[in-house]
Amino acid sequence: MSTPHNNAKKGDIAKTVLMPGDPLRAKFIAENYLTSPVCYNEVRGMLGYTGTYKGVPVSVQGSGMGMPSIGIYSWELYNEYEAENIIRVGTAGAVADPVQLRDVIIGMSASTNSAYASQYNLPGTYAPTASWKLLSAAVRAAEEKGITFHVGNIFSSDTFYDDADSLAQWQKMDVLGIEMEAAALYMNAARAGKNALCILTVSDCPLKGLSTTAEERQTTFRDMMEIALETAVNI
Ligand code: HPA
Repeated sequence: MSTPHNNAKKGDIAKTVLMPGDPLRAKFIAENYLTSPVCYNEVRGMLGYTGTYKGVPVSVQGSGMGMPSIGIYSWELYNEYEAENIIRVGTAGAVADPVQLRDVIIGMSASTNSAYASQYNLPGTYAPTASWKLLSAAVRAAEEKGITFHVGNIFSSDTFYDDADSLAQWQKMDVLGIEMEAAALYMNAARAGKNALCILTVSDCPLKGLSTTAEERQTTFRDMMEIALETAVNI
């Protein structure tokens, strides 16, 4: 069994999947954090691996950028491969004033300018929300490790280069950070009756014109990965 986008066979993918946007990040995570990782997918270069962390099977699968891309990969993981938990691990731009470069954001909910929810024909506005089970485990892990983190609403945007300059409007609504995938992931999880969470490291502050260096990104990347992996083994 495989899908148009994934060569994995049933049983190749663990119940918990970490999803970075960049497939080479998936390779890096598999090779540096998992024990005995096996690559199960190379279709379109969207690498996926399964190994173990502290003895628990964990997969790591690239999602690509944007909601259509993570929408496809996460839909197949939930509905074709029986994944139960997907934890997106990515980067975000800071939006709310207290959020600083290199902080970790845990996305409790994801506002969006995407039309992804229109497929469900809902008679109102849907609020894409993380799964409490994953959110609470991630918060516990972050607290235990003494990592600085923020929990709240994030903004999943269809555009990276935003002609309308709308970030200041989202800032007024206490949105913590901007990224491009969480809302679709949360909707797919809800529709499939599964669990999702998005953990982000702040790589830039678009409103202040600041960005991190590659070295600085490594440290917060490690913080985010420790939270995500501890979450994976404690649920
Ligand atoms: N916009 C959208 N996605 C992002 C950004 C941003 O400024 N920074 C990191 N991911």
